[in-house]
Amino acid sequence: MESHFRMSLLAAALLISSSLHLGSAARPAGGTAGTEFIRTSCGATAYPSLCYSSLSSHASAIQRSPKLLAHAALSVSIDTARATSTDMYRLSRSFRMTPREVSAMRDCLEELGDTVDRLSRSMAEMNQINGSNFGLMMSDIQTWVSAALTDEDTCMEGFVGNAMAGGVKTAVRGKIVNVAHVTSNALALINSYASLHG
Ligand SMILES: *[C@@H]1O[C@H](CO)[C@@H](O)[C@H](O)[C@H]1NC(C)=O
Repeated sequence: MESHFRMSLLAAALLISSSLHLGSAARPAGGTAGTEFIRTSCGATAYPSLCYSSLSSHASAIQRSPKLLAHAALSVSIDTARATSTDMYRLSRSFRMTPREVSAMRDCLEELGDTVDRLSRSMAEMNQINGSNFGLMMSDIQTWVSAALTDEDTCMEGFVGNAMAGGVKTAVRGKIVNVAHVTSNALALINSYASLHG
């Protein structure tokens, strides 16, 4: 009885492992190489699982290119900042806010707008990088993406404080923390791309 149970377990384990194997073999070769590259590269960021989940869908385009990875991370960061901005407008209408919250929200939306500008300028330079301007362009990009991260932190700080009600603070914090983490990851991937040419 017991050995029969063990056999069934073994059979089940074999079935699971062979279907996992088939699953990975069925994926296009480029996608698999790309996902491994993304997983490894994301390991060097501050938020590896967020990094991987936000970039793995771009695996077949990225392949094993640090440049395309940095490019995709920047693009995800811009999209996230834009979407966050839209969500914040929506939030600001769905909560009844105190004057202090209204003012923090207005500042935050302005900072998010600056974030989107800086990230978009970084993307424009990323698209122009060539062998002769690499150092110059990367230095601009690193400066602007760091500044974008500072804007996001500043927005966050506007919502810290005991005088502020929990509802708006919690809703804003979750969204801003997400965009700040995605941007921090993009900066890490940009820095590691930059260091390849150092
Ligand atoms: C590199 O790009 C710059 C513009 O950013 C351009 O002026 C320059 O001619 C390009 N150099 C090469 C080698 O393509």
